[in-house]
Amino acid sequence: MKQKGIDSFVGKRVWVIGASSGIGEACAKSLIHQGAKVALSSRRVERLNTIAAQAEENQSLVIPVDVTNHDQLCQGYHSIIHAWGGIDLLLFVSGMYTPLRADDFEFQVAEQTIEANLLAPMKAVSLVLPEMLKSHAGHIAIVGSVAGYSGLPKALAYGPSKAGIINFCEILHYDLLPQGISVHMISPGFVATEATAQNDFEMPALISADEAAVEILGGIQRGEFDIHFPKRFSRFLKFLRILPYPLYFWIVRRFVKI
Ligand SMILES: NC(=O)c1ccc[n+]([C@@H]2O[C@H](COP(=O)([O-])OP(=O)(O)OC[C@H]3O[C@@H](n4cnc5c(N)ncnc54)[C@H](OP(=O)(O)O)[C@@H]3O)[C@@H](O)[C@H]2O)c1
Repeated sequence: MKQKGIDSFVGKRVWVIGASSGIGEACAKSLIHQGAKVALSSRRVERLNTIAAQAEENQSLVIPVDVTNHDQLCQGYHSIIHAWGGIDLLLFVSGMYTPLRADDFEFQVAEQTIEANLLAPMKAVSLVLPEMLKSHAGHIAIVGSVAGYSGLPKALAYGPSKAGIINFCEILHYDLLPQGISVHMISPGFVATEATAQNDFEMPALISADEAAVEILGGIQRGEFDIHFPKRFSRFLKFLRILPYPLYFWIVRRFVKI
């Protein structure tokens, strides 16, 4: 059994969480351009308003939320239900990255990262599921990362949070496919955004946020579960994770500044 895609985004009700910059902003703008109704969420409301200004009247909603505040997520969802009666696609893009190593391990950073990158998407999914299960329809798309495939240096909290997303999506897929709900696990490689602008190394196979949005929205339309890109990088990392550990660690140490 294959999960459903989306023929056209025209009139589809999409909740984009993390819409104010980078990959989420690019997805939100493209969805607006393609005629979807888009609810824009994140903390920086002025940036959400600027994106909403590009939409037609009644095509967008601005729903400010801090994803680590479960009450705000809950209120945000209910505002969308009140306005639109339901959503067709939850696109959870929001995420944070703080480099973290064992020799300077700040537990608070780990806590914040797991809260923002793993528990927040779980909370959002728990909110949208009851209506989707009732209607036997809907799409849940969550942005993880290729950094979740297997351990990479300086990602002591980010890596586990994204590995958790992969596992979460896989298990959602078992349960939701028979219910007519599609799950899209999104694993980007390097994308040029505010988050990666601070990186002090050359990022291999770097793509733009607009290119990432094309990959993400195209993959959702085709009903793909595993949306990973750019393929020249993500396929290489998929290959690395099937290698025996001594070889895997040797290759990572050789190519990554540790
Ligand atoms: N760029 C890459 O190379 C790359 C690679 C793999 C995966 N990813 C993943 O892609 C996603 C987007 O990253 P990006 O590169 O586009 O980064 P970005 O430009 O920094 O965007 C991050 C987005 O998340 C929102 N956000 C962060 N914390 C939030 C919070 N507590 N509550 C609500 N919204 C929050 C931000 O909005 P506000 O600040 O307005 O709240 C912003 O809209 C993340 O999940 C990231 O892990 C990125």
